[in-house]
Amino acid sequence: MMKNLYEMKGIIFDLDGVIVDTAKYHYLAWRELADRLGFEFTPEHNERLKGVSRDRSLEILLEVGGMAGEFSAAEKHAMATEKNERYVAYIRDLKQDEMLPGSRELLLELRKHGIKIGLGSASKNAPEILDKLGITELFDVIVDGNATQHAKPDPAVFLLGAQAMGIDPADCIVFEDAQAGIEAALAAGMTPIAVGCPTQLTGAEVYVKDLQEVLMCDEKPHLSR
Ligand code: BG6
Ligand code: MG
Repeated sequence: MMKNLYEMKGIIFDLDGVIVDTAKYHYLAWRELADRLGFEFTPEHNERLKGVSRDRSLEILLEVGGMAGEFSAAEKHAMATEKNERYVAYIRDLKQDEMLPGSRELLLELRKHGIKIGLGSASKNAPEILDKLGITELFDVIVDGNATQHAKPDPAVFLLGAQAMGIDPADCIVFEDAQAGIEAALAAGMTPIAVGCPTQLTGAEVYVKDLQEVLMCDEKPHLSR
């Protein structure tokens, strides 16, 4: 069966790397921590951190540096805090024009069609980011890293979103730029649309470069299901 995007009942958006260009700041903040610890942390390594919670990201970073198991829980907590302080400094002056192409327009368009809009983000900084961008009100439901301990690829963040919207997971699609997020959407029984390319992301129903591409389709994207 083919479905038009505007026939879906609910659409859940990831935040970092889908709505706003903050993925680069997460990377810079982690790379600075790796620099201090004395190892190289490349953009390729960083792909493994996308969509992943702060604590799990630190574990992966330490694995990359060959330092897994070298630190106490208190030391790891301090490192995660250090990274977050660097990240928060980067986003302190986040500008509305750092929204990714088409994201504001698509949110407005979906609202016009009466489709429920959810945020499904792993980030504990999501509320501040939405506030700085002035888009909090565009979401019917916001589920972020403060709402659950179960981080992507666990489906919890998306299932909580569907439940709060009162929509069956099968009637939701998810826009995601991270492999962990695509896996979480699939585990939730939702249809993932990847924002990125198939060489980096697998398992999605449809691939788009950005949300502008979704808007630019004359025929709105059809999802084969
Ligand atoms: C996700 C990002 O959206 O949020 C990850 O893709 C990040 O890179 C995660 O680690 C948690 O974010 P925060 O802001 O709570 O550290
Ligand atoms: Mg993301």
